[in-house]
Amino acid sequence: MKALILVGGFGTRLRPLTLSVPKPLVDFANKPMILHQIEALKAAGVNEVVLAINYQPEVMMNFIRDFEEKLGIKIICSQEMEPMGTAGPLALARKILDDGSGDPFFVLNSDVISEYPLGQMIEFHKSHGGEATIMVTKVDEPSKYGVVVMDEETGCVHRFVEKPQQFVGNKINAGIYLLSTKTLDRIQLRPTSIEKEIFPKIAAENKLFAMVLPGFWMDIGQPRDYTIGLRLYLASLRQKSPKLLASGPTYLGNVIVHESAVIGDGCLIGPDVSIGQGCVIESGVRLSRCTIMRGVRVKKHACIVGSIIGWHSTVGQWARIENMTVLGEDVHVCDEVFSNGGVVLPHKEIKASIFKPEIVM
Ligand code: GDD
Ligand code: MG
Repeated sequence: MKALILVGGFGTRLRPLTLSVPKPLVDFANKPMILHQIEALKAAGVNEVVLAINYQPEVMMNFIRDFEEKLGIKIICSQEMEPMGTAGPLALARKILDDGSGDPFFVLNSDVISEYPLGQMIEFHKSHGGEATIMVTKVDEPSKYGVVVMDEETGCVHRFVEKPQQFVGNKINAGIYLLSTKTLDRIQLRPTSIEKEIFPKIAAENKLFAMVLPGFWMDIGQPRDYTIGLRLYLASLRQKSPKLLASGPTYLGNVIVHESAVIGDGCLIGPDVSIGQGCVIESGVRLSRCTIMRGVRVKKHACIVGSIIGWHSTVGQWARIENMTVLGEDVHVCDEVFSNGGVVLPHKEIKASIFKPEIVM
């Protein structure tokens, strides 16, 4: 089976992390976001993935080469000369997606995280016999998503409305599709929105079906949602593979710690923390609701709450980092400094406290 992941866009809402790598390569729970998706696709029987890219393809490919072999899956880049939207890239990669087997193919937005029940999705797609299947999930604030109106029993979608101005319903498009090759006949080779131009037409012909996603879902394209996504992801690990979570008196709630990380004495870590490869957490440190990326050093008695610490940064002794502070790559926070919601660009040294949320260039 084939799959295409939509990897366009600059990821501006996840700066300063996306100043160092394209958004799909930003680590989430100790793994680049896109690897969560590629692994799930592989588990569902996909053997070839197309990355639809319009920005920094070299960076992406250098990284992906390593994983192609490790995961045993073929990964191809399909580069757009201009942004082709969310449907145009399917026309561009048509020859790969329509391989003559008649199999449907997956399409994923690259900035969502979920349990990816893709096997169930294949079963559902076969059972309804329609043209396209989309995953949907319930949210409290549907206006920033694509909203569907569907038959609860059959899953048949009556309407698909992208970013509705007025309330249509609370079931939204989760950005995970299984499409038959017939859908490719509807898409021309030009910038096209699948949500605005293609799905409404398939729905009008009663050939679009939706499956309500079991389990959690989050669009992790901005820091606050990224942090909520980590909490949901770790809670799901607790249910499914609790052995992957850290245990012992140092840890509270759900925490993952890379096997190479070193944790000092007398720390209290959790809930909802991920600690990456090669991190050094010195003694007496307090961490909660935060992501500590690869190669970070947190010095003695520092406290980090509700924040993201980018790759290879250091946080000084007795420093206090909180309220959705995001440190870019290689940032150095001096001893005893306080950050309340600072957003710090890569390679900075922070000598003075940041008392209110602001961007530090
Ligand atoms: N290759 C390519 N080219 N990819 C693109 C382009 C493009 O021109 N434009 C957007 N993408 C990719 C993005 O990188 C992302 O993975 C996906 O397409 C969706 O684009 P977003 O910009 O993240 O859209 P959104 O979050 O506002 O809305 C979409 O996702 C929601 C779920 O998170 C829509 O699909 C909504 O219907 C959906 O509810
Ligand atoms: Mg998005």
